[in-house]
Amino acid sequence: MARTSSSQYGKINIAIDGPAGAGKSTIARMVASLLSYVYVDTGAMYRAATWYLQNLGIQPEEVDKVLHSIQNLGIELIPGEDGQQVIVNGQDVTAEIRSLTVSSQVSRYAQIEGLRAWLVSLQRQMALRKGVVMDGRDIGTTVLPDAEVKVFMTATVEERARRRFNEMQEQQGITMEKIAHDIAERDRLDQEREVSPLRQAEDAILLDTTQLTPREVASRIVSLTEAYGRENRNDL
Ligand code: DC
Repeated sequence: MARTSSSQYGKINIAIDGPAGAGKSTIARMVASLLSYVYVDTGAMYRAATWYLQNLGIQPEEVDKVLHSIQNLGIELIPGEDGQQVIVNGQDVTAEIRSLTVSSQVSRYAQIEGLRAWLVSLQRQMALRKGVVMDGRDIGTTVLPDAEVKVFMTATVEERARRRFNEMQEQQGITMEKIAHDIAERDRLDQEREVSPLRQAEDAILLDTTQLTPREVASRIVSLTEAYGRENRNDL
């Protein structure tokens, strides 16, 4: 796939939402690279906050402590050759935030309204200058409701567990069943939470990736972006 020249039209924002393991981050990274956009992985921000709070021994039920502690939390996302580095208060936690300890608890911390409000405002700042591909659960509905291109990606639980299993094989003691169970539980928590639940925005395009390669999905999103550019040439 050829890199697209974004100089043909102004940059826009692209929102990619969907459940755990639908392939959002792989695709979002590919799309960002093809369009020379900036990739923002909002799941990594919730994971970074979870890692930080777990390290302090703060439970998700201790909302006051959570809100107090995040005042001292600095999260940086640094784009790199091998993906994005996640830095918490100067410490590289890129690997740590993918551990099962974080993965199994992150949805519980992500239900805290004040924590979400703080992360959402950071995410909006990151998208102010356009040219951002942002993935998460509430990007099209809450974070960037005006994003010019919105995609909601899904895949079956089995396919999503298989993909995660392939990614995580180096972590010992993990079975496909355990991953499928964790994914289904995370879907439930993400869809049922009161604040910004996981759901498709009305104007988002649904992409079922079960049978598609990452390249095919990325191409579809690049085409949608180019089509937007052609149709709105005068607005950009
Ligand atoms: O995409 P991920 O698996 O890295 O996301 C980790 C968790 O963060 C996920 O269980 C739900 C939460 N999340 C969220 O609530 N809102 C977002 N925009 C992104 C992630």
